[in-house]
This record gives sequence, structure tokens and C-alpha cells, in this order.
Amino acid sequence: MKIAVIGSNGQLGSDIYEVLNESYSGKVMGLTHNDIDISNLDSVNSVLKEIKPNIIINTAAFHNVPLCEKEREKAFAVNSRGAENLAKISNELRAILFHFSTDYVFDGKKKRPYIETDKPNPLNIYAKSKLEGENKIREIAEKYYILRVAGLYGKYPSRVKGYNFVGLMLKLAKERDEIRVVDNERTTPTYTKEIAEQLSLMIKKEPAFGIYHATAEGECSWYEFAKAIFEISGVKTNLVKAAPGEFATEVKRPKYSVLENFNLKREGINIFSYWKDELRDYIKSLNL
Ligand SMILES: NC(=O)c1ccc[n+]([C@@H]2O[C@H](COP(=O)([O-])OP(=O)(O)OC[C@H]3O[C@@H](n4cnc5c(N)ncnc54)[C@H](OP(=O)(O)O)[C@@H]3O)[C@@H](O)[C@H]2O)c1
Repeated sequence: MKIAVIGSNGQLGSDIYEVLNESYSGKVMGLTHNDIDISNLDSVNSVLKEIKPNIIINTAAFHNVPLCEKEREKAFAVNSRGAENLAKISNELRAILFHFSTDYVFDGKKKRPYIETDKPNPLNIYAKSKLEGENKIREIAEKYYILRVAGLYGKYPSRVKGYNFVGLMLKLAKERDEIRVVDNERTTPTYTKEIAEQLSLMIKKEPAFGIYHATAEGECSWYEFAKAIFEISGVKTNLVKAAPGEFATEVKRPKYSVLENFNLKREGINIFSYWKDELRDYIKSLNL
């Protein structure tokens, strides 16, 4: 068994690489952007035909949401064509493709947790390009899992932002007298290590191919997430709910993008805990 992890120095890819190495030591190949460009079919073919993995895990994406609006072509090249290229090579190698997508494929109008059969309606270019990537995989790949995740944080920072929300809040608490956070967008913060553990279990259990929502249990607003960060870490700060529209940007985002892990539960393999319990584990690991 050989496993290729694409984006292995990213926020999610790093944890996946580490967790899989515990079970499949020596058989997991980590690939960074320097090793492979998923938007380029020649690069995908030459790198993956050399490794011949049985499992390809793609965490690579262009997910800077405001920048995707400006660099539309790049967004579709990485998030859609990249997914298409990986679907093609997976078939050639008879490999299983694990691909990551986003809660942002939904428009947020449902106001109750979205399940995998709910109809997506992406609001911005990032989300549109990710949905197109999902659809390419569904059309082309013979053996695939698409895992929709949300609100990631973990040991390694996001390559795009250089931090995660937890780290940002703890940093701001040291720098500012007051921290203002929006209370009108609801999601489910999810610890990347839990996603890596879930993926590892999926490799072992081989559930039905298809789309899986893969987030922590429960939901919160970004303000409630920040409040929990300060409560759990014992950091005293003046946290204030931002007024609606205070951080308004041109880019549309869903106000409600909570996902229900319906398919993982149907398969009897959902390992996710309540979001605050995952957050407690993560903050404990920081040894503040
Ligand atoms: N972060 C979130 O909260 C969130 C929420 C929902 C869904 N997601 C999805 O979760 C996945 C993982 O996100 P993440 O936060 O772990 O991202 P990340 O930290 O930015 O990591 C992405 C990785 O992909 C690499 N990459 C970018 N373009 C590439 C290309 N064309 N070819 C090969 N590698 C490329 C990056 O390398 P360089 O940095 O060197 O370019 C980086 O190693 C993505 O699919 C994202 O859409 C994330």
C-alpha cells in the first residue's frame, strides 16, 4: 500500500501526513507545491506515475477567498482543473482519491445543518471553483471520497493565512484592549487532527464512495468560538460582538454553513466530537 498526500505541509495535510505515518510508516509520500502542481496535468502525471500510489489524498487548494475573486482563472485552475487532473490519474492508477471541499458550497439559506444531498448554491468564486472541482471528480473518478470540511484549526498554520483563528484570537488578546468578532455567521470549527483520524478510519473501513460531510458536532458563531477560546485557555480579554456589517466585504459568504455528518453516521464511522471538546483538546496541546 502506498499513499500520496498532496499539500503535505499545509494546515490539514501536515496532520494527515503525521496520522497516516503512525499506521503506514514508510508508505506515506508527502508532496508539497514544490513537488507537484495539481493544476498542471503533466506535473500530476509525471509525479504520480512515478510513485504509483494506491491512495491519493488531495488537500491542495487556492482558498484565499477575497483573492479568488480577483484571480478567478487561478481559482478554477487549482480548485477545478486540479481536481479533474487528479480524478484522471486516479483512474489510470486504479487509485482511491480523497479530496477536500468546503461548507461554502452552500448559500446558508437553509438555517439548519446541511446534509450531503442538499443542493449546493455557492456564493463566491472560491466556492464556485470548489463545487466545480467536486463535480469533475463525481463525473470522472471511479473510486473517490469528497470530504467537505469547515472552520479548520490545528497544530500547523494555514499556508494561506499563516495562522489559524485560535492563534489569532490569543495573539490579539495580547495586543488589543478590545476584540470585536462577528456573531451573525454560524459554522462548526473543526480540529484538523480529528479530520486526519476520520480519514484514517475511512481508509481502514472502506465505506461507500461519495461525498461525506466531515466536521465537528454542534455549531457556533465566530463570536461564540472566540468566547470558548478565551474561556478554555483562561485568557482574560474584553470580547465584544461586532455590529452586523462592521467587517463587511465585497465577497459574499454564507451566514449559515453548518454541516451534518449524515453519511459518516449512516456508515457507522463518525468519530467527531462536540466542537468545544475538540477545542479543549487542541488548546491543551498548546501547553499555554
Ligand atoms: N482552512 C479552512 O478553514 C478550510 C475550510 C473549508 C475547507 N477547506 C479546504 O480544506 C483543504 C485544506 O485547507 P488548508 O487550510 O489545509 O490549506 P493550506 O494550509 O493553505 O494548505 C494548502 C496546501 O496546498 C498547496 N498548494 C496550493 N496550490 C497548489 C497547487 N496548485 N499544487 C499543489 N499544491 C498546492 C499549498 O502549498 P503552498 O502554500 O506552497 O502554495 C499548501 O501546502 C482545502 O481543500 C480547502 O479548500 C479549508
